Amino acid sequence: MTKGDNMDWGMKNRISRIIKPDTGRAVMLAVDHGYFLGPTSGLEEPGKTIEPLLPYADSLMLTRGVLRNSVCPEHPVPIVLRVSGGNSIVGEDLSRETLTVSVEDAIRLNVSAVALSIYVGSKYEHQTLRNLSTLINECERYGIPVLAVTAVGKEMTRDARYLSLACRIAAELGAHIVKTYYCEDFEKVVNTCPIPVVIAGGKKIPEKDALKLAYNAVNDGAVGVDMGRNIFQSQDPVGMIKAVREIVHKKGKPEKLYSSLKLGKK
Ligand code: R5P
Repeated sequence: MTKGDNMDWGMKNRISRIIKPDTGRAVMLAVDHGYFLGPTSGLEEPGKTIEPLLPYADSLMLTRGVLRNSVCPEHPVPIVLRVSGGNSIVGEDLSRETLTVSVEDAIRLNVSAVALSIYVGSKYEHQTLRNLSTLINECERYGIPVLAVTAVGKEMTRDARYLSLACRIAAELGAHIVKTYYCEDFEKVVNTCPIPVVIAGGKKIPEKDALKLAYNAVNDGAVGVDMGRNIFQSQDPVGMIKAVREIVHKKGKPEKLYSSLKLGKK
């Protein structure tokens, strides 16, 4: 510890629960999908899905409702609480999100960070960026890190140009970590973003491809993953999260780790 390191002690302490100081990397397990998708495949009974995966997750990203009802409060896993919502997959416009949880309640739940989506280029872009700014202003008072999720509307292309724009805006507004998607020229997204970047897994893809995705992302500069469906919708969820851990924290090779999965016959 050097002089000045006591500044923002709480903020640094909480970030170190998410991005592990020994490797500088993070394996976040995302199970917050129900906030707009309802009972997502694989998360119909969140507690049953989450429980076997918890020992391998550095942190757990989820909503207040699932946290209270499906996670044992005595488990030491750090929590990244989703605090935006108010939309649904069948609603008027997915980008119309608002803040759903007070910072006071997030503190009561002893979270390590809060997460919120921004929809750059969408109809409600301004509202979601205001949500982010409001949340950051509140959270700075208490030393709570804010993770911004760059949600991509149907009309947007997940390319480096768009994702760099969204990540950079999140960082400029003061987010502490940003979650985005992997894309071609991903180094550009990382290199133009002054805060740590984690990637979402996206829709379920073959396990081999999901492991390569994680490998390529950290190889190109991401500090880790905040992965959901490609873990809990796999035939071997525990095998997948263990393999992702090996890749993120130990530079494990995806091909070798894929062969260790118990996938059965297709
Ligand atoms: C969006 O619904 C959520 O923020 C998810 O946490 C995020 O998309 C990551 O999950 P997945 O790896 O399933 O895309």
